[in-house]
Amino acid sequence: MSSDSTKLWGGRFTQPTDSGVEQFSASVSFDWRLYRHDIAGSIAHARMLNGIGILSDAEFDAIHAGLKRILAEIEAGEFEWSNQLEDVHMNIEKRLTDDIGEAGKKLHTARSRNDQVATDLRLYTRDALDRMVDQLKAFQLTLIDLAEKEADTIMPGYTHLQIAQPITLGHHLMAWFEMLDRDRQRFRDARARINLSPLGAAALAGTSFPIDREATADELAFDGVMRNSLDAVSDRDFALEFAAHAALVMVHLARIGEELVLWTSDGWRFVNLADGFTTGSSIMPQKKNPDVAELVRGKSARAIGNLNTLLVLMKAQPLAYNRDNQEDKEALFDSIDTVTASVTIMHAMIQNMQPNRERMREAASGGFSTATDLADYLVTQNVPFRDAHAVVGEIVRSCIDSNRTLESLGAAELKGFHAALDEKAQHVLKPEGSVAVRNHIGGTAPQQVRRAVIEARQRLS
Ligand code: ARG
Repeated sequence: MSSDSTKLWGGRFTQPTDSGVEQFSASVSFDWRLYRHDIAGSIAHARMLNGIGILSDAEFDAIHAGLKRILAEIEAGEFEWSNQLEDVHMNIEKRLTDDIGEAGKKLHTARSRNDQVATDLRLYTRDALDRMVDQLKAFQLTLIDLAEKEADTIMPGYTHLQIAQPITLGHHLMAWFEMLDRDRQRFRDARARINLSPLGAAALAGTSFPIDREATADELAFDGVMRNSLDAVSDRDFALEFAAHAALVMVHLARIGEELVLWTSDGWRFVNLADGFTTGSSIMPQKKNPDVAELVRGKSARAIGNLNTLLVLMKAQPLAYNRDNQEDKEALFDSIDTVTASVTIMHAMIQNMQPNRERMREAASGGFSTATDLADYLVTQNVPFRDAHAVVGEIVRSCIDSNRTLESLGAAELKGFHAALDEKAQHVLKPEGSVAVRNHIGGTAPQQVRRAVIEARQRLS
């Protein structure tokens, strides 16, 4: 008789678990989330045990029905989770045994919590990954639609956050599209490594029972089984990969968020965010703040931190399973939650933002953004590029002195700087002319943006 009859593993113990230890080691407060996958895994395992004759049909039916009832109870919020039972796995198993008796006690045959938790977490991560791929795709489709609408919208492009050359807003939006497309591909590629079944590895070495690993893998829609039992119970690369890809999505969203913060600031006013996606100030009545964009930028810190947590968690663990692994969950769950919420809100905010085209056009003619075009024009008139660069530098300096834009220079004035600057030179000083000639794959010309939009839609179909 165990001194602590609440424990499913109490048999070899003569003293009860210290209450502080119970508190310290319990994971049910966060791993309860795995219940749906835990139950699916248990049903698959039980069906397999039935298939190889370890469970009778009646026993399997009782387990199956019992687990379904527990699932319904949990979903209805009626299940009582207990810290004393440590984790989601033992909470459910104990409830099953209390409910159906003897048959419940047979469920854990040929299985360990080590392969059970690895299975649950892979299934959970796979589902999160599939949702993330869909979410990113939806966001990308919005960006494509917006880019198409803004293919001709002129805005300044920046390097060093100084105005560099005119670009089109459509081109800028398609840059965001490409960032997210790599993210989507990374998640998709990770799926093949995540979607393998550890079930059957048992504690670490496999089991003496003639289990059918393919059967459980098939039922759980895994692509195959993990080939080494030690690796199967100890590997958390899949969680790390998810966290790494999530961190990268968050870095991309943070950069987009940063741009929105700049674009909505008073100096820029390139876009208006819908009221519903901004917040006011408790003291300054005039304020409309881009808090959502800032929060996404801020939340990227969590995703980066979670990735670091998981890397450090794994780095010194000998094979096979160690309890350290229990610490993988909160970091992974937080990365899943953070990236899910952030993609959702950024998507909605961008879908509802209004570009301020006049403001962007005005800003594009400042900062001497077409200076390169003027130098390029001189090159077409047979002036060596270095000389052309120097001439245009002089023109810029004189514009600064007289507080003028390049666009405002008349034909005669231009000619005064260099004989080769004929009236055609005036055309290239217009941002519209500047973007139109950058007409090659990957260039900012409206024609190329339209082409990129078509190509991008094909990529997503
Ligand atoms: N709650 C544990 C975890 O998250 C389940 C596995 C426990 N295994 C063990 N040998 N104590 O990792």
